[in-house]
This record gives sequence, C-alpha cells and structure tokens, in this order.
Amino acid sequence: MDWIVHPLAGALRGVVRVPSDKSIGHRAVILAALAEGTSTLKRFSFGEDNVSTLEAFAAMGVAHEIVERNEGPKGGRLRIHGAGLFGLKQPIDGKPLDCGNSGTTMRLLSGLLAPQHFGSVLIGDASLTRRPMRRILEPLRQRGAHCRGEKHPTKDDETAPIRIAPLVEGEALTAIELDMKIASAQVKSALLLSGLYAHGITTVKEPTLSRDHTERMFEGAGVPLRRVGSLCSLDPSGWSGRIKPLDIEIPGDISAAAFLIVAANVTPGSNIRIVDVGVNPTRTGILDALRMMHGGANVVPRGDVSGEPIGNLETGAAVDEDGAGLTAALLGGELIPRAIDEVPVLCVAAARARGTTVIRDAAELRVKESDRLATMAEVLRAFGVDARELPDGLEIDGKPTGSLRAARVTSKGDHRIAMSSALLALRGDGPSTIGDVDCVATSFPGFAQTLRDLGAQVDVVESA
Ligand code: S3P
Repeated sequence: MDWIVHPLAGALRGVVRVPSDKSIGHRAVILAALAEGTSTLKRFSFGEDNVSTLEAFAAMGVAHEIVERNEGPKGGRLRIHGAGLFGLKQPIDGKPLDCGNSGTTMRLLSGLLAPQHFGSVLIGDASLTRRPMRRILEPLRQRGAHCRGEKHPTKDDETAPIRIAPLVEGEALTAIELDMKIASAQVKSALLLSGLYAHGITTVKEPTLSRDHTERMFEGAGVPLRRVGSLCSLDPSGWSGRIKPLDIEIPGDISAAAFLIVAANVTPGSNIRIVDVGVNPTRTGILDALRMMHGGANVVPRGDVSGEPIGNLETGAAVDEDGAGLTAALLGGELIPRAIDEVPVLCVAAARARGTTVIRDAAELRVKESDRLATMAEVLRAFGVDARELPDGLEIDGKPTGSLRAARVTSKGDHRIAMSSALLALRGDGPSTIGDVDCVATSFPGFAQTLRDLGAQVDVVESA
C-alpha cells in the first residue's frame, strides 16, 4: 500500500488515543506466559510486532484468549494462561519461531530460550534478518548458552536465523557481569530474562539508563531485582521462581504519540490532546528534545498504571521567544537513548526549525529497521530540505517558512520512516506519495485514520 498525503490546509485539532506501548506489550506477554495462572492484559495493541510475540508463545504451548479486539489505537483485552517459569514447551516439530519484523521479540526471546532444556530456532523477515544479533548472542554464550546466528553478510556480526541448542541435564547458565558500551534495553532485557534461570547473579550496567520496563515489571511480579541508577542485578538464589499473574493496563505509546506531537508543533493553529500516554522518564527524551527546540507537549499527569506513570499530552504549534515556530538544537548525549526511536520524527521537527539542527551519538540508528540516518537524509532531501549525514548523526538545515517540495518517497519497509515522511508531506506544495506503508501496522495500526481524525487528508492506494 502507498499513501497519497495532501498538503494540510488548516490546523490539526482533536482529542485522540495512540496504540498502547509496544515495548510494554512485549514484556507483558512474556511475563504473563511465565506466570502461574491467568493474566489479563487490557488495552493490548494488536500491532504486528506485539502479535509476533503473542504467537511465539502460543507455539510454545501458552494459550491465550482474545476477549476484545480492535485493530486501531483502542487495542483490546487479552487473557493469557501462564505456563509457569519451567512450563514452556518446544514448538511442535522444532518449528522456527517467527519474530516477523520485531527486533524486540527476537532479542528478548533469545534471552528467555537460551536457558531452556529444549532447542529453538528464531527467524524474522528480510529486515530483521539483516540486523546485528551478536550483542545478545555473545553475552549469552559467555554464561554458557549454546546459541549462534548466521554470519552477517557485510559486517563482523551474526544475524538471524538464531539457533539455540538445549542445555543438557544438570547444565545451567552461570553468573555474568555485563558492562555495556551502548545503552540497550533489548540487550539488558535479554540478559535479565536469561538470569531468571541462571545459577548465579546477572549484573548489567549501561552507560545511561535505557527504557526500564522490564525492571519495573520484574519488580511488580516479585522477581528479586536490585538497581541503582543504570546498574541492575538479579539474584535468583532463594527465590521461589513463582511469578504472579498480571492484571495490567498498557499505557499509550509515547513513541507513537511523538508523530502527533511533532505534527502539531509544525502546524500553525494546531491543538491536540493525546490521552493516557506512558511518560516513563526513560522514554520522554522526545519531549525534552522538542522543548529545547521551543516545541513539545505539556504533560498532565494521571498517576501510575501498572507501575508505569501516565499522562495526557497537550500540544500545539511551537512558539519560540520571538513568536515564531521551532528553533534548531544540538541533540546528543544521554538524550539519545531516551529518544532512540524518535530520531526520525525529530528530523521532521528539524526540517521546520529555524537554523541547523545537529544530531550526534545516534550511530545505533544505522541498525534499526532500516539505516535510519541514511534513509532520513534521503527523504529530507526529496522534500527539498538540506540534510548531511554524519557517522553518528545528521545535520539538517531547517526550512521554517513556506512549503516543502512535494515528493515521492519510499519507507524502505520502515514504519517510522513512513510516518515521518507523511508528516513532511503535510507541509508539501502538492500531494506527495509515500510508498510501502504496510509496515506501519507493526507499531501504529490506524495511523492514517488518526491523522484524518485530526483534519489531514491521507488516501490509501495500492502500491504503484
Ligand atoms: C526496545 C529497545 C530499543 C528500541 C526498540 C524497542 C525495547 O532498542 O529501539 O524499538 O522494547 O526494548 P535497543 O535496545 O536496541 O536500543
């Protein structure tokens, strides 16, 4: 499918919801699968990535019932009948577990499956099969796991398929102390999941704290975890190994809300409220970055839901001290891990800001669903915005006034590129075509409809 996105005539206005948090959704399914008893997950998003995790557990004998299913941002209600920590089963006939496009599914499941006494194979789509996996395989091997990937075609790394051989009778993973060079919630979570079964302590230290949903959920479920700043350790000795069933409502995904915030910030007269969004401080880098650019959103706190802070986000057109719109900024350092998925949409803000925005310390973007630094530079240039790639970032010369040049671009199968491109197109001087947008269903089912609800015109057409 492609989108034809028309230039926005007026402002964006309305009260909307975004799909529930994808990261929390994955972890909720995993913990519910390991719990003893039936868990209830409310407002679960049926985005394809979350569904990949759910189906992987179904293949390992963890039954679930969908009580209510809405395809869009409303999500639905799910009951998961946990198998207990030691109750997962080998998929029938050793069938591979298909992680689709979801890096989180593949990396977290590798951590969980490495300590099992059955073997497994994890596969993914073409994009996931290009992504580096040694970052999880190597530390898992260090603690005694028998796992390996394929040789990476271009880098000194490993890729999917990931093959995990069973631990034999009497074998167990050992203690590990991992001092991570790059903050990564996926690596941290994979190690912590493997640590549930280890004979010894799992200690992980990050240079700065990445999203801490795993830690919060472990704490809520009674898993013995200790943490100070960006260091956390799990010592399962003396722990019962029993995980209580969850009754959890999943907050809205700030990574999805980010697109609407930036859309409002760059559109004069806009006024949007996004209700019940997760505002965990490890995820709110986007708000800090936009605030530095004189945009952002006001957070109206609504308390904690299932161990995660939530709030309503109120946002509109950005106004700097001269009454104009966004201003360029230097974005880097500890902000980047807290806005790791928001860099593409920050490029849209930069495209409409006064001055040159410089993004640094974001080399990780090169190994996401696409090389997001290269792809965004291409997309920005197609819309007539000057953008230069740096090894670890981008320099973007903003065009704050007038229209951008309408363009025809492709998402390269990357959901966040597709949505960022659509926002640029709203400021175009004619209709733009965004190609290959099916991937948006991985994280934001109903995105085009949400833009329409706010006043935009987006047509969905068969790919040319
Ligand atoms: C995620 C962690 C981040 C993020 C991804 C989701 C998670 O990846 O980019 O979209 O749910 O743990 P890294 O851990 O590779 O930074």
